[in-house]
Amino acid sequence: MRRILLKNAKENMVLAKDIYSEDGKVLVASGQKLTNNMIKRLKDFGVYDIYIVDDNIDIVEIEDVITKEIKEEAFKVVNTAFSAEYINTQEITPEIKVLVSKIISQLLEQKEVILNLCDIRTVGNYTLFHSLNTTIFSLLVGIKLNYDYDKLLSLGMGTLLHDIGKVKIPRNILNKRGPLQEKEYEMIKMHTIMGYDILNSEYKFDQHVSEIALYHHERLDGSGYPFGKTRDEIPQTAKIVAVVDVFDALVSDREFRKRLKPHMAIEYLLNSCSTHFDSYIVSKFVTFISLFQVGTPVILNTREKGIVVHNNPRFPSRPIVRIFYDSEGRKLPYKKDIDLALNFHYYIVDVLEDIEL
Ligand SMILES: [Fe+2]
Repeated sequence: MRRILLKNAKENMVLAKDIYSEDGKVLVASGQKLTNNMIKRLKDFGVYDIYIVDDNIDIVEIEDVITKEIKEEAFKVVNTAFSAEYINTQEITPEIKVLVSKIISQLLEQKEVILNLCDIRTVGNYTLFHSLNTTIFSLLVGIKLNYDYDKLLSLGMGTLLHDIGKVKIPRNILNKRGPLQEKEYEMIKMHTIMGYDILNSEYKFDQHVSEIALYHHERLDGSGYPFGKTRDEIPQTAKIVAVVDVFDALVSDREFRKRLKPHMAIEYLLNSCSTHFDSYIVSKFVTFISLFQVGTPVILNTREKGIVVHNNPRFPSRPIVRIFYDSEGRKLPYKKDIDLALNFHYYIVDVLEDIEL
């Protein structure tokens, strides 16, 4: 499979990754042959690129760290938890606990995890993927920090619902393009306090869970909100969510800006270490994020162009690349794989949007 721009998609290409709608239902399933109608529908949904099956890249599908069933269960739970009618009930609380414990068990089963951020996300399903992805990221950091089960559970539940306070903020302010007015920004900041109140008073979570919503926008140097707390005043769980929240937001398309490529988002986190983010947490986080996802077209320092076919958990920036074009731009008549972890004079200089095969 490989990633292509949707505008280059053609009829009869086979989709290699499910695409989900705004409410978490499968819109087009992997394995389906594309029709012109489908391509048009995906365009209307704001899909920008897709994964297709390609015989040149013999990877059928990238394995997710959690099963499809759990992913869909998570979407259902998040949809319910974030819907305003549910805020006054505690019915959802046990479901959230069960869901997060299932995610924890699946993550603990895996030895070396490297996350391929290959979900096709749209602006519309941002909250679903953001809640689930940040939860997986946080839990993996928690596991690296040797958290015990109860601590992982609180971290996971708090991460899943860290932005729950946004249900009380008007949508037009949340998704506003262009600069916010002072008053609007003040309102957005309130989602931390509102989130804490919802988790604490309505959903009856304990302090360890609720404080994640309260403090996830605090920054080490005191420049965050709502209180401007610094270093040791911020719970470690909230410091973890600060990192994963910003990373996932940066790699997602939003109403107001295009996404960053993962290696640039990591660069941003590394540059903001010690002022905004805890560098120990960032150092744990970067070990399981693949900088260049499988199926992504890239260009090497030698000007050779190819597609990432395998990620090495020990060297996230040095995957195996299958080369299709030599440094002169000529198509190779034979198969050539370069393992960047073994050949240090090669490195990826940029991610390409698409290459013609
Ligand atoms: Fe937030």
